Amino acid sequence: MRVVLFTGKGGVGKTSVAAATAVRCAAAGYRTVVMSTDPAHSLGDSFDLELGSDSVQVGDKLWAHEVSSLHEMQRHWAKLHEYAVEVFSTQGLDEVLADEVANPPGMDEVASLMWIKHYTARGEHDVLIVDCAPTGETLQLLTFPDAAKWWLDKIYPWSRRAMRLARPVLQPMMHMPLPSDEVYASLKDLLVDLDGMRKVLTDPEITTVRIVLNLEKMVVKEAKRAYTYLSLFGYVTDAVIVNRQLPSDLHDELFQKWQRIHHRYQLEVEQSFAGIPIFNVPLFDREVVGEKMLARMARAIYGDGDPSARFVTSNSQRIDKDGQDFVLSLKVPFVEKSAVDLSRHNGELFVTVGNYRREISLPRVLARRDTAGASIEDGELRVRFVRRPEAAKETKR
Ligand SMILES: Nc1ncnc2c1ncn2[C@@H]1O[C@H](COP(=O)(O)OP(=O)(O)O)[C@@H](O)[C@H]1O
Ligand SMILES: [Mg+2]
Repeated sequence: MRVVLFTGKGGVGKTSVAAATAVRCAAAGYRTVVMSTDPAHSLGDSFDLELGSDSVQVGDKLWAHEVSSLHEMQRHWAKLHEYAVEVFSTQGLDEVLADEVANPPGMDEVASLMWIKHYTARGEHDVLIVDCAPTGETLQLLTFPDAAKWWLDKIYPWSRRAMRLARPVLQPMMHMPLPSDEVYASLKDLLVDLDGMRKVLTDPEITTVRIVLNLEKMVVKEAKRAYTYLSLFGYVTDAVIVNRQLPSDLHDELFQKWQRIHHRYQLEVEQSFAGIPIFNVPLFDREVVGEKMLARMARAIYGDGDPSARFVTSNSQRIDKDGQDFVLSLKVPFVEKSAVDLSRHNGELFVTVGNYRREISLPRVLARRDTAGASIEDGELRVRFVRRPEAAKETKR
């Protein structure tokens, strides 16, 4: 099975591009399911159909589905749901309302991951297209399996034991119910279920991520950050979709100004995402609603190509741990080390190669460290990050 995730800032066109990709995959003969994980669903609007929390057939070889974490929780994790309702109602929320909204943090991510797991395990479809929530939540979704595993290994055994002992003492003093052992057991089942998801999601044979953006400062900035973070977690970004491009023959002064702005960011996008195919999509003369418009959008993106192809099979930007250090590797073919210049400013790393400068937003683990030299090996620039001396001393004490 092939899994393609679409992410990007709110409003850039993720849902439209995801739905268009799905329509095209189905037309190419793949059994395709498109699923929205954004709690503010609009996938149904794209198809101009009412969708539900189970997949419905929306075309030949095409199914669509909007994940509802509340629905999943009531259906599969009743114990957790009951507990959440109890907590919410002791906080003064009406019980009926509590039942509607009781959703512990992380449930949206869990429910989406469970469905991705369901589809990849079943093998009833050839392609799964995921229309994700805006960037931040998507990163949360993709890092959730790591967090869950950590919690399960490190915190869960300790916390469950402690709770068993402390509950009789603490409960009378608390203004909300403490989780029972059953709640813990149910939570464990759920987390164990997520094991293995990371492997599916970071195997570029199966899963790749596509970033959708518009040519505006904040959107491009967020897209670049997403790319860095996705790389950090080992997710492969295999395409960038630049949506809402203006036609070149505009005579109106206002639009000409916008065109100049777009042009500036287009260059930045090309430099920042070098090595990843960039697909350009025009601003259409109408909204992208209904199968016909979705097919039109898909044609603009992929031409005659296969949208389920893997356009990139490995990351051009990678972060590895090497003993106590971290090494950031960047594919920069055909350069000598003498041609590379590095500088840092406010959590950004600037890599200059000739006239070409790339700005990398450093993830926190790297921003906290000092840069200790760079080398070029196998067509890759490798930048070493070491711990700051004070930090090393502090942990020794
Ligand atoms: N290239 C385009 N041309 C015209 N309208 C577009 C284009 N891309 C998206 N839209 C419209 O913009 C709106 C937001 O798109 P949507 O796909 O819902 O964004 P997101 O999922 O990123 O929030 C929708 O009304 C959609 O029809
Ligand atoms: Mg959307």
